[in-house]
Amino acid sequence: MLKRYIGIFVILLILVVVGGVMFLNGPATRADQFSDEDLARWQEEYMNVVKKGRELWTSPNLGTNQVACAQCHPNGANTHPETYPKFQQQLGRVVALRDMINWCLMNPLEGEALKMDDPRLVAIEAYLAYERRGVPLAPGKH
Ligand code: HEC
Repeated sequence: MLKRYIGIFVILLILVVVGGVMFLNGPATRADQFSDEDLARWQEEYMNVVKKGRELWTSPNLGTNQVACAQCHPNGANTHPETYPKFQQQLGRVVALRDMINWCLMNPLEGEALKMDDPRLVAIEAYLAYERRGVPLAPGKH
Protein backbone atom coordinates (compact mmCIF):
# COMPACT_ATOMS: atom_id res chain seq x y z
CA MET A 1 0.00 0.00 0.00
CA LEU A 2 2.70 2.50 1.06
CA LYS A 3 4.78 1.57 -1.97
CA ARG A 4 1.87 2.48 -4.22
CA TYR A 5 1.58 5.94 -2.64
CA ILE A 6 5.31 6.51 -3.02
CA GLY A 7 4.97 5.49 -6.67
CA ILE A 8 2.19 8.02 -7.28
CA PHE A 9 4.15 10.69 -5.41
CA VAL A 10 7.24 10.09 -7.56
CA ILE A 11 5.17 10.31 -10.75
CA LEU A 12 3.58 13.60 -9.59
CA LEU A 13 7.01 14.97 -8.68
CA ILE A 14 8.35 14.14 -12.15
CA LEU A 15 5.34 15.83 -13.78
CA VAL A 16 5.87 19.00 -11.71
CA VAL A 17 9.59 19.14 -12.56
CA VAL A 18 9.04 18.48 -16.28
CA GLY A 19 6.17 21.01 -16.33
CA GLY A 20 8.34 23.60 -14.60
CA VAL A 21 11.19 23.15 -17.07
CA MET A 22 8.78 23.43 -20.02
CA PHE A 23 7.28 26.58 -18.46
CA LEU A 24 10.68 28.20 -17.98
CA ASN A 25 11.60 27.43 -21.57
CA GLY A 26 8.38 29.06 -22.74
CA PRO A 27 7.89 32.43 -24.44
CA ALA A 28 8.95 34.41 -21.36
CA THR A 29 12.56 33.22 -21.48
CA ARG A 30 12.68 33.01 -25.25
CA ALA A 31 11.82 36.71 -25.68
CA ASP A 32 15.43 37.66 -26.34
CA GLN A 33 16.02 35.04 -29.00
CA PHE A 34 15.33 36.38 -32.47
CA SER A 35 16.65 36.02 -35.97
CA ASP A 36 17.74 38.54 -38.59
CA GLU A 37 14.41 37.94 -40.34
CA ASP A 38 12.59 38.87 -37.12
CA LEU A 39 14.60 42.10 -36.88
CA ALA A 40 13.91 42.97 -40.51
CA ARG A 41 10.19 42.32 -40.07
CA TRP A 42 9.95 44.36 -36.87
CA GLN A 43 11.79 47.27 -38.49
CA GLU A 44 9.47 47.10 -41.47
CA GLU A 45 6.38 47.07 -39.25
CA TYR A 46 7.75 50.02 -37.28
CA MET A 47 8.51 52.03 -40.43
CA ASN A 48 5.01 51.31 -41.75
CA VAL A 49 3.57 52.89 -38.61
CA VAL A 50 5.95 55.88 -38.93
CA LYS A 51 4.77 56.30 -42.52
CA LYS A 52 1.15 56.19 -41.43
CA GLY A 53 1.99 58.83 -38.81
CA ARG A 54 3.50 61.08 -41.46
CA GLU A 55 0.39 60.69 -43.61
CA LEU A 56 -1.80 61.74 -40.68
CA TRP A 57 0.59 64.60 -39.91
CA THR A 58 0.25 66.09 -43.36
CA SER A 59 -3.45 65.24 -43.81
CA PRO A 60 -6.04 68.04 -43.95
CA ASN A 61 -8.67 65.54 -42.77
CA LEU A 62 -7.42 64.72 -39.26
CA GLY A 63 -9.36 67.65 -37.75
CA THR A 64 -12.46 69.41 -39.05
CA ASN A 65 -11.06 72.63 -40.56
CA GLN A 66 -8.70 71.31 -43.26
CA VAL A 67 -5.67 72.39 -41.23
CA ALA A 68 -2.81 69.88 -41.03
CA CYS A 69 -0.37 69.48 -38.13
CA ALA A 70 2.45 69.95 -40.64
CA GLN A 71 1.35 73.51 -41.44
CA CYS A 72 2.59 74.74 -38.06
CA HIS A 73 5.06 71.92 -37.39
CA PRO A 74 6.71 71.05 -40.75
CA ASN A 75 8.56 67.72 -40.42
CA GLY A 76 7.50 67.58 -36.78
CA ALA A 77 9.29 70.87 -35.98
CA ASN A 78 8.78 72.31 -32.48
CA THR A 79 7.03 69.28 -31.06
CA HIS A 80 9.95 68.20 -28.82
CA PRO A 81 8.81 64.62 -28.08
CA GLU A 82 12.03 64.06 -26.12
CA THR A 83 10.94 66.57 -23.43
CA TYR A 84 7.83 64.62 -22.36
CA PRO A 85 6.35 64.09 -19.84
CA LYS A 86 6.55 67.75 -18.83
CA PHE A 87 4.48 70.59 -17.40
CA GLN A 88 2.36 72.23 -20.07
CA GLN A 89 0.74 75.61 -19.39
CA GLN A 90 -2.21 74.91 -21.71
CA LEU A 91 -3.22 71.92 -19.56
CA GLY A 92 -1.91 73.13 -16.20
CA ARG A 93 -0.20 69.85 -15.27
CA VAL A 94 2.51 67.41 -16.21
CA VAL A 95 1.32 65.68 -19.38
CA ALA A 96 2.41 63.02 -21.85
CA LEU A 97 3.21 63.79 -25.48
CA ARG A 98 -0.13 62.27 -26.51
CA ASP A 99 -1.97 64.83 -24.36
CA MET A 100 -0.35 67.66 -26.36
CA ILE A 101 -1.08 65.86 -29.63
CA ASN A 102 -4.73 65.79 -28.59
CA TRP A 103 -4.61 69.41 -27.42
CA CYS A 104 -3.48 70.58 -30.86
CA LEU A 105 -5.97 68.24 -32.49
CA MET A 106 -8.83 69.80 -30.51
CA ASN A 107 -7.65 73.43 -30.74
CA PRO A 108 -5.86 74.47 -33.95
CA LEU A 109 -7.47 71.55 -35.85
CA GLU A 110 -10.89 71.85 -34.19
CA GLY A 111 -11.12 68.06 -34.09
CA GLU A 112 -11.92 65.40 -31.53
CA ALA A 113 -9.33 63.95 -29.18
CA LEU A 114 -8.06 60.50 -30.16
CA LYS A 115 -8.57 57.69 -27.63
CA MET A 116 -5.42 56.70 -25.76
CA ASP A 117 -5.32 53.30 -27.52
CA ASP A 118 -6.13 54.66 -30.98
CA PRO A 119 -3.55 53.33 -33.47
CA ARG A 120 -3.49 56.81 -35.08
CA LEU A 121 -2.17 58.27 -31.83
CA VAL A 122 0.57 55.64 -31.75
CA ALA A 123 1.36 56.42 -35.40
CA ILE A 124 1.70 60.16 -34.76
CA GLU A 125 3.92 59.46 -31.74
CA ALA A 126 6.03 57.07 -33.80
CA TYR A 127 6.43 59.70 -36.53
CA LEU A 128 7.41 62.50 -34.12
CA ALA A 129 9.89 60.27 -32.27
CA TYR A 130 11.34 59.14 -35.60
CA GLU A 131 11.88 62.73 -36.74
CA ARG A 132 13.78 63.39 -33.48
CA ARG A 133 15.72 60.11 -33.35
CA GLY A 134 19.16 60.49 -31.82
CA VAL A 135 18.16 63.55 -29.74
CA PRO A 136 18.89 62.81 -26.06
CA LEU A 137 15.91 62.40 -23.75
CA ALA A 138 15.29 65.56 -21.70
CA PRO A 139 12.04 64.98 -19.79
CA GLY A 140 10.59 68.10 -18.20
CA LYS A 141 12.76 70.47 -20.28
CA HIS A 142 11.44 73.75 -21.69
C1 HEC B 1 -2.08 76.66 -36.03
C2 HEC B 1 -0.81 76.13 -35.67
C3 HEC B 1 -0.73 74.72 -35.11
C4 HEC B 1 -1.19 73.56 -35.67
C5 HEC B 1 -1.94 73.40 -36.96
C6 HEC B 1 -0.76 72.49 -34.79
N1 HEC B 1 -0.08 72.99 -33.72
FE1 HEC B 1 0.84 71.91 -32.30
N2 HEC B 1 1.41 73.61 -31.39
C7 HEC B 1 1.06 74.88 -31.78
C8 HEC B 1 1.36 75.83 -30.72
C9 HEC B 1 1.13 77.34 -30.75
C10 HEC B 1 1.92 75.06 -29.68
C11 HEC B 1 2.33 75.53 -28.30
C12 HEC B 1 3.76 75.61 -28.08
C13 HEC B 1 4.01 75.48 -26.61
O1 HEC B 1 3.44 76.22 -25.84
O2 HEC B 1 4.76 74.57 -26.21
C14 HEC B 1 1.96 73.69 -30.14
C15 HEC B 1 2.50 72.65 -29.43
C16 HEC B 1 2.50 71.34 -29.83
C17 HEC B 1 3.18 70.27 -29.13
C18 HEC B 1 4.05 70.42 -27.91
C19 HEC B 1 5.34 71.13 -28.30
C20 HEC B 1 6.35 71.25 -27.19
O3 HEC B 1 7.38 71.89 -27.41
O4 HEC B 1 6.16 70.70 -26.11
C21 HEC B 1 2.89 69.13 -29.82
C22 HEC B 1 3.37 67.73 -29.47
C23 HEC B 1 2.04 69.48 -30.92
N3 HEC B 1 1.85 70.83 -30.90
C24 HEC B 1 1.48 68.59 -31.79
C25 HEC B 1 0.61 68.97 -32.80
C26 HEC B 1 -0.18 68.03 -33.55
C27 HEC B 1 -0.20 66.54 -33.34
C28 HEC B 1 -0.90 68.74 -34.44
C29 HEC B 1 -1.93 68.23 -35.40
C30 HEC B 1 -3.00 67.46 -34.79
C31 HEC B 1 -0.55 70.13 -34.25
N4 HEC B 1 0.34 70.22 -33.22
C32 HEC B 1 -1.06 71.17 -34.99
C33 HEC B 1 0.53 75.23 -33.00
C34 HEC B 1 -0.04 74.34 -33.87
